[in-house]
Amino acid sequence: MKEFKPKAWMLPQPVLVIGTYNTDGTPNAMNAAWGGQWDEHEIMISMGAHATTANLDRCGEFTVAFATQETLVEADYVGLVSARNHPDKMERTGWKSTRAPHVNAPLFDCFPMTMECRIKEKLYPSETGYYIVAEILAIHCHEDFLAADGLPDVERMHLITYEPVHHGYLALGPRVGSAFSAGKALTAKQ
Ligand SMILES: Cc1cc2nc3c(=O)[nH]c(=O)nc-3n(C[C@H](O)[C@H](O)[C@H](O)COP(=O)(O)O)c2cc1C
Repeated sequence: MKEFKPKAWMLPQPVLVIGTYNTDGTPNAMNAAWGGQWDEHEIMISMGAHATTANLDRCGEFTVAFATQETLVEADYVGLVSARNHPDKMERTGWKSTRAPHVNAPLFDCFPMTMECRIKEKLYPSETGYYIVAEILAIHCHEDFLAADGLPDVERMHLITYEPVHHGYLALGPRVGSAFSAGKALTAKQ
C-alpha cells in the first residue's frame, strides 16, 4: 500500500449542476463535485464564492441536476467560467430551462433527473463560501428515463462521476449486484 497526504479523494464523486437565477432573472449553472446526501430530505454541498453563491444568498433556492455523458462538455464548461465575467455563459451551453414548479430556480430540460432544493442552513460561512444544508422539495425524472415500475431507471441515464485524482469524468457502469441482498450469500454460509 502507498500512503498519501489528505486530499479531496472521496470516491466516487457526483457531477452536480446547480441551477439558480441571476439578479436580472436569467438562469445560471455551476458544476459541483463536493456534495452528498445522508437522509431522504436533505443534501449537502460545499460552496465556494461564486456568482451562484451570490444568487443563493439572495434567494436560497436552487435546482441540482445530475450530469450525463451527453451533457459532459457543457457541465464542465459551467464549472470553468463564471457568470460574473461571462454574460453569455448559459447561451453557450445551449441549455433550455423553465422555472421549477416549487422553487425560484431554473429546471434545465437536458438532464434525466433534477432535484428542487431550498437552503435550510449555511454552515461555517466565510469569505470563501460555506457548506449548504438544503431541503429537497421535489425530484423530477424525465419520462424517457422511467423504468417499467415507474421509478427512475438510473442505469439508462449515462450518468458521469468526477474522478478527483487525475481530474477526469468516468462513466457510471451497469448494475453489478443487488444492494441489501448480495451479502445474504454470506449470511447463509456455515
Ligand atoms: C469538476 C468540477 C467540480 C467543481 N466542484 C465545485 C464544488 O463542489 N463547489 C464549488 O463551490 N465549486 C466547484 N467547482 C467550481 C465552480 O463550478 C466554478 O467556479 C464555476 O465557474 C462557478 O460559476 P458561477 O460563478 O457562474 O456560479 C467545480 C468545478 C468543476 C469543473
